[in-house]
Amino acid sequence: MTFRVFNFYSGPATLPLAVLEKAQAELTNFRGTGMSVMELSHRSDAFLAVLRSAETRLRSLLALPDNYRILFLQGGASLQFSMVPMNFLAGGSADYVVTGTWSEKARKAAGSFGTANVINPISADGYTSVPAPDELRPTSGAKYVHYVSNETIDGVEFPYDLDGLGTPVVCDASSNILSRPVDIENYSLIYAGAQKNIGPSGVTVVIVSEEFLETCRSSQNGVLSYNSFADNESMPNTPNTWGIYIIDLVCEWLERQGGVEAISLINDAKAKLIYETIDGSDGFYKGTAEASARSRMNVTFRLGSAELDAEFCSGAKAAGLVGLKGHRSVGGIRASIYNAFPIEGVERLVEYMTDFAQTKG
Ligand SMILES: Cc1ncc(COP(=O)(O)O)c(C=O)c1O
Repeated sequence: MTFRVFNFYSGPATLPLAVLEKAQAELTNFRGTGMSVMELSHRSDAFLAVLRSAETRLRSLLALPDNYRILFLQGGASLQFSMVPMNFLAGGSADYVVTGTWSEKARKAAGSFGTANVINPISADGYTSVPAPDELRPTSGAKYVHYVSNETIDGVEFPYDLDGLGTPVVCDASSNILSRPVDIENYSLIYAGAQKNIGPSGVTVVIVSEEFLETCRSSQNGVLSYNSFADNESMPNTPNTWGIYIIDLVCEWLERQGGVEAISLINDAKAKLIYETIDGSDGFYKGTAEASARSRMNVTFRLGSAELDAEFCSGAKAAGLVGLKGHRSVGGIRASIYNAFPIEGVERLVEYMTDFAQTKG
């Protein structure tokens, strides 16, 4: 059997073993073509079938209404920080809800293309919470309101779909897409870098309503235009064919798990196991996010000192629990437990946490 560890990295992240094995089995002769999927022309029937299958599966998993398009882009979620305002801001203003490192980066990027207003209170103590709906102060004339549904670095997740109150909602769902059901019709555009819940890095999924797309028809050309992707089946240029292929396999795997509702229950159970261990540790472990905004995907916590954090991580690594070090900008511990992360790995982590607290506490 292949040597595998429990991989808690935040992205690129764990992929389902079944997906890796299928990709391995098909690697040198993709479905009778006599070549790998990476060697196929993106215009070939064999590749078009992959792209259409990935799109069809995503549509069904997300229960997308007919008036939404799915686009496969490159440039990571970071390109979306600029591409959204390039296409939709046109020198005007937009509202940004800033709840963590990524939403702040998105707001900053938008500032190069127009006015980006922050519309929620931000605590001086760092990013530990999300605003209640009545704390938002939307501005008049905003072209859209942007938020990040799960802040991967800060471990803060919105427990609700943001209501734009008539303003189109744009959401960076990179780290919780397909992890729980959402009401798509609340959104005009959702984007997600694939490397956490959907596939490998290098491909970004954009879900956008046709009505919203129409509002930016003339603003950009070429590979910076959403409409050129929509008008050319995501291929105004050569797409990330390998990435789209893996997305198709991950979606096929998710269908076998019972879809988004079923995986959502498993995700809740996984996160609960770790948060209960934190809360039952008499303060040995301290969660960094407020309980009401705790992420189900990135569980962030600290021990009593940076030295103890480091000791925790190196002991975990020796026990086959890899990638628990928090992001370099915030430190601490982060357990990323996306859809494909198995519950057995969470159980092993919880056992390790309990033993470590007993030995060091
Ligand atoms: C929520 C969120 N947005 C944006 C990004 C940036 O993604 P990329 O590195 O693909 O540009 C990340 C990366 O981890 C993320 O977690």
